[in-house]
This record gives sequence, C-alpha cells and structure tokens, in this order.
Amino acid sequence: MEVKNIMLTAEEMPRQWYNILADIKMNPLLGPDGNPVTPDALAPVFPMNLIEQEVSTERWIDIPAEILDVYRIWRPTPLVRATALEKALDTPARIYFKNESVSPPGSHKPNTAVPQAYYNKIFGIKRITTETGAGQWGSALSFACAQFGLECKVFMVRISFDQKPYRKSMMEAWGGKCVPSPSPETKAGQDALAKNPKTPGSLGIAISEAVEAAVADQSGETRYSLGSVLNHVMLHQTVIGLEAKAQLTKVGAYPDVVIGCAGGGSNFAGLAFPFACDKINGKQVEIYPVEPAACPTLTKAPFVYDHGDTAGYTPLLPMHSLGHTFVPPPFHAGGLRYHGMAPTVSQLVDEGIVTPQAISQLDALKAGILFSRTEGIIPAPETTHALAGAIAEARKAREEGKAKVILVCFSGHGLLDLTAYAKYLAGDLTDFELSDEEIVKAEKAFADFPKPASLKSR
Ligand SMILES: Cc1ncc(COP(=O)(O)O)c(C=O)c1O
Repeated sequence: MEVKNIMLTAEEMPRQWYNILADIKMNPLLGPDGNPVTPDALAPVFPMNLIEQEVSTERWIDIPAEILDVYRIWRPTPLVRATALEKALDTPARIYFKNESVSPPGSHKPNTAVPQAYYNKIFGIKRITTETGAGQWGSALSFACAQFGLECKVFMVRISFDQKPYRKSMMEAWGGKCVPSPSPETKAGQDALAKNPKTPGSLGIAISEAVEAAVADQSGETRYSLGSVLNHVMLHQTVIGLEAKAQLTKVGAYPDVVIGCAGGGSNFAGLAFPFACDKINGKQVEIYPVEPAACPTLTKAPFVYDHGDTAGYTPLLPMHSLGHTFVPPPFHAGGLRYHGMAPTVSQLVDEGIVTPQAISQLDALKAGILFSRTEGIIPAPETTHALAGAIAEARKAREEGKAKVILVCFSGHGLLDLTAYAKYLAGDLTDFELSDEEIVKAEKAFADFPKPASLKSR
C-alpha cells in the first residue's frame, strides 16, 4: 500500500529556521528621506529582538525551547500524499501536500505568531496590535498571545469581518479583541471612512490602523505585529519547508515543482525557501507562487519601492506592488487581497528563481471542491489557489507522461469560509477582472518613489 501520511517525530522537528537573506541580495528598506531605514527607526513599532532578526544575514537561526514547546501543540504537521486526487486526475504525478491546517487556528499563521508573541514578551511588551484579512492571522496571534499572557487587538478587514463572524469569536475565545477596519478609532480609519463610508476595507488600511494604534500608546508597552511580508515572518515560516524536505527524504523523493498561494508571501516562502536555496546552489526545481487574478501583484504589477500600508506609515519596501492605495475587489480569499508582496519573494521573482501564476476565483474554488471530494479536507479559499496550481501541474504531467513530484502547501482549512463555498455551489460567484486602466491608475501611488536596483544573487 502507498504511504499516505508521512510523519516526523517531535525529535525530528527542525531546531533552526532557514534565513534566505544569507543567500540572496536585497535592496534596503527606505525611510521618508529616501535613505535606508536604521533599526532604531523601527523601534517604536517592533521589539528590537525581532528587528535584529529582520536584518540578520545568519543562514540558520535557533528556535528557542519555549517556542518549540508551543509548536509541539500541532507540529510536526503531516505531509500527505494526495493519492485520491492523483487518481481522480489520472496523473502519473505524485502530489504531496503539507498540511498546515492542523494548527489550533487552522492555518500556517501561528508558525510566526508564536515566535512574535514570544519575542515581544521577553522584550517586556504587554500588548500587540495587528490587522487581519481572512481572520486567520488575527486568530493565530490571539492564540499565540494567550500562550504568553499578552493582550491582543486585531483590526479585521470589514468585508471579512462581515463574511466570517466566527473568526471574531475565535479571537475572543483566546482573549483577543477584534474590530472591523476601517474603524473610527484611528486617523487612518477615519480618513478611509470619510473617503468611502461603504468601503470593504483592505489589508493596507487595516495595517495603517494597527501601526497607528501601537505607536499611539505612550506607555511604550504596545508593539505592532505583521502576519506576512517581512523577513522575520518568512524566516519563522521556513519550519514548513524544512519539515517537508525531511518528510520527502523519508520516502526518497525530491520535488520537481513546489507550489504555494501568495498573499503577502509567507506560506509560499515557508514551504519554498529551503528549496529556493537548493535552486540558487544549482538544483533543478520549479517554484510557483500562485496569486488571485483579481489582485495580480506578482504577475501584472512592477517591482518598485512602495509603502506596505495605505496611509504610508511603513517604510518603502522593494516589492511588486499594485499601489499602496489600491483596494482589491471583494473576492473571497481575503488573505490574498494585498497590494504588495514580501520583498524576499519579489526579489526571487525579479531574478527568475521563482515563477508566479495567477488563478481566477472560480477556477480556485473549483479546485477546492475537487480536493474536498477526493482528499476530504475543505481548503481555505486562499489555499484553493495553490491547489489549482498543483492540479494544473498534475494534468500537464499526464499530457507529458512524466511522473513528476509536486509539493504544495495546504495553508489552511476553509471551515469558517463556507459562505464562499455556498455561493460557488449556488452559482452566485463571479470572477473579478481588473482592467489594465485600473492597474495603471493604482500604480500612480508609487510614481514618485525611487526604483529598486536590479540585483543578481547567483
Ligand atoms: C489560509 C491562508 N493561506 C494563505 C494566506 C495568505 O497569506 P501569506 O501569503 O502570507 O501566506 C492567508 C492569509 O490570511 C491564509 O489565511
């Protein structure tokens, strides 16, 4: 019988994260004066121990014992061979999915929420503010804050707040507070509401609100936490790819293709960076971040300097961007509604080390249904984008008659996203097409900023 679940023991769990900054060249973050940002400038927003990780170029960073203890609640996660999906596709390919949905909040997000809460705690911070798109990140941070006795305040993008009331309940069960964004509590929220009182909100606006709320606390005991995009977030998520590599080794396999959905880039990076490292060192492997066609950051937007948030509170990041004022259409994969991308992922795209793809909402959910009916687990709408990419690869392998090994990140389950499935199954969902004119208009937001240099890491 085929091995279905490839498990690691607790002893086999990685003891270090992999830092891709040791292996690639990066443009610096820029401050309002156009000069590289110093660690001190970030100190009101993040604790210094996380800022040090953000700029570290050490290849391997130890995972503290306190974090490993919490990781053990759900890690190591299973690597599962999608045998039923393979059969349905009649493909010679082997499809393996790394099941990150088994964490308490149901996604990969606590892989970084737990270290971020831990580093804030040991730095003496008492409360953390954040934003959430799909609600996965806000619930992950609430869970992590509960583990370390911290307060947590979450600004949740309005459309997701309305679509997924139970995410708020999860956050509250773990002791967090959740408000819809834009909110009247911050200047950034007030400005967004004044512009459009009916706005569905965006991750860019919610980030501005959470940063503003953290910096406004004069006690110095509040910091902000970001669930994706930043280098230290990608670093923490590499536990996914390091485990997957060890699991594939157990069955004598190495992937031909590695696939993850990309919103801010963190689950994709987490799975892919350990393999991108191999590729930089000469190994043959195709690596695909898959994004929504309605928010085509990597596939249609240029590599530029832009703010990570709508109000322009963050430094300028070197990344693909649709413009920091862009409000993506209200499609169902809330965690993929982001105008920018992790600078590390953007750098790999710019160098051709990874190759982005875009999938429409309807194609993604169709893949989600096929996966649910074969492998049984109902994927989050974000995750369906990665699965659609994996299914397309498996079909290609059938046409080519190649027994490829496909590795895909199953970033989260969709048990609190059933509205999307209900609408899809009732035929009530449509695709959102973004016209070239809309993209050109949104890109005016960064027209006056400097341009990142084209760097070559290999
Ligand atoms: C299940 C799931 N997958 C993917 C994402 C996208 O985020 P990232 O690109 O940082 O992994 C999210 C974000 O909320 C998510 O909840």
